[in-house]
Amino acid sequence: MDLLQKIDDYILGYMDRNSFFQVYSFSNENIRAYTKFFDLKRGSLCTVGSSGDQAINAKVAGCRDIVIYDICPLTESYTYLKLAAQQTLGRKELFMFLNGRDYSYGAYRSPSFLNPITFKTVEEKLKRINYDAFQIWQTIAYKYPQEDIEKLFRKDDKSFPEIVRCNNYMRNDHEYNKARKALEEINIKFVTDDIKELKTEKEFKTIWLSNVAHHLEPEDITQMAKNCSAHLAPGGKMLVCYFWQSGMNIRGKSIEQLSELKVEEKTIRGAEGIFTKDSIYVYTRKARSI
Ligand SMILES: C[S@@+](CC[C@H](N)C(=O)[O-])C[C@H]1O[C@@H](n2cnc3c(N)ncnc32)[C@H](O)[C@@H]1O
Repeated sequence: MDLLQKIDDYILGYMDRNSFFQVYSFSNENIRAYTKFFDLKRGSLCTVGSSGDQAINAKVAGCRDIVIYDICPLTESYTYLKLAAQQTLGRKELFMFLNGRDYSYGAYRSPSFLNPITFKTVEEKLKRINYDAFQIWQTIAYKYPQEDIEKLFRKDDKSFPEIVRCNNYMRNDHEYNKARKALEEINIKFVTDDIKELKTEKEFKTIWLSNVAHHLEPEDITQMAKNCSAHLAPGGKMLVCYFWQSGMNIRGKSIEQLSELKVEEKTIRGAEGIFTKDSIYVYTRKARSI
């Protein structure tokens, strides 16, 4: 399989380490707080991955039609792995299996991080959800030691309490079990491509370009926002940028590039214990006049 060859090349260092190849194990964007600005129930969403958490939270909030666009070729199989693991493992176990960075382990991954024994408990489910994803992650889990598998993951992932604060489905065991039911049947369409070039006949009620702009050149932010806004349904809303209270470094760059679109800044309560407030830029397409 072509992707397995690429994974091997990446781990062995034959591929550019700066390419968008790594996955984010979980999202540390405050999805839990920003969801309220969007009409997800029975709606449609186009979102960037790669943790799969935007899609997972949206599905749990009742969204029906979900497309994940991400340039990272691992996003699709990783999202299926997370869905299978969510159905099989407990809340903390899921975190330890996919992220594993807990302060009790210091700088090290937990012993269960992508290890073959934990994978064994997830594999039957994964096989049923998506066979290609099963083959990919089975190969990874059995073939490489943890220190090599780590190379496929971003290093800046966060602790368990931070992930819990940002993702409603991780909030407590009650929400986690509720999510398990909602995620039993999930049909996501994946596109491994550049979101600036978003091509589809569809119109979405919601588009989330959360935390992508800082990867782009200023003129590309304009192209991405304009192109994506053309795929919004009338009255639909697009999250163009997510900002932590820390500001990130794109606010100046993006507001200038978004001037043609008239975005609104919405303030949200910061993920408890991390920041007191965060904010997002939202663009709303006019509803059709009658
Ligand atoms: C900082 S991460 C955002 C993480 C995501 N919002 C989450 O919490 O899972 C940026 C993501 O955007 C993807 N990406 C970067 N540039 C892109 C582009 N031009 N088109 C599509 N995806 C892109 C990366 O592969 C990565 O998965």
